Amino acid sequence: MHIFKKASDIKQFIRKLKAEGQSLGFVPTMGALHEGHLQLIRRAMSENEQVVVSIFVNPTQFDEASDFSHYPRSIEQDILLLESINCPILFLPSEEDIYPDEALRNRTFDFGYLEKTMEGAHRPGHFRGVAQVVSRLLEIIPATRLYLGQKDYQQVKIIHRLVHDILKLPLEIVVCPTAREVDGLAISSRNVRLSKEERQAATALYKTLDRARKESSRMTPEELKKMAVEMLLQVPEIREVEYFEIVNADTLSPVSSWGDSSQIIACLAVRMHEVRLIDNMFLKGIH
Ligand code: PAF
Repeated sequence: MHIFKKASDIKQFIRKLKAEGQSLGFVPTMGALHEGHLQLIRRAMSENEQVVVSIFVNPTQFDEASDFSHYPRSIEQDILLLESINCPILFLPSEEDIYPDEALRNRTFDFGYLEKTMEGAHRPGHFRGVAQVVSRLLEIIPATRLYLGQKDYQQVKIIHRLVHDILKLPLEIVVCPTAREVDGLAISSRNVRLSKEERQAATALYKTLDRARKESSRMTPEELKKMAVEMLLQVPEIREVEYFEIVNADTLSPVSSWGDSSQIIACLAVRMHEVRLIDNMFLKGIH
């Protein structure tokens, strides 16, 4: 595996690949790699001649300093995992390379309502940070295809707007299904921070979403939301349901009836003791 630590080196390498007409898949990550990442990388490897995985824990997207400092970091293990699946290229940039000046570190984009609701409302500045790092990474890695997981559905919508409407890059975005544990829990780097009891209790997220999907033909979105919040709050380890929203999958505006949109998705965020978990599921239409 080629490992690059400097933006200038990987840029030069990619220039050559592109000059040879090779397609390039890109999987941006913050490390602590798990099966969800590996699914994205394997898909990218099956659809492109070359694949870059980046690992960079982006400080500007953390709204809580403790979340940034506790974010799991396991670079040696990540490298072994990437080698085990024959990932061809790894980019491990420094903070100075990603944000060489204040203008890049403070760059802002306007995402309108997409950044004001759900994660945007509960994690101020989070999507600004995501857009800062993704726009910078795409300057360094002019990929053919970008691979993202459906688990961070709102992030997918934001990056879509950034790439296609704001930066107008000729880049295909491939959204891969959420990878789940056998009991349904969405795989996330943050899961390692759950206690044994919390890990068990966290299955309530998938169970609630699945029940919501099954009940959606028998209830209004408002009734369904009430049922889901009550179901989540019955679990003692869930300290708070930050939101459970049933929204138009394109605009992310809440729907009041099932006829409001051809694609409707339920998105949720809960707080356990120290860990915050998110998940989502389509209730109507398939993404
Ligand atoms: O989803 C993530 O891991 C991050 O938000 C991303 C897209 C790598 C940007 O830092």
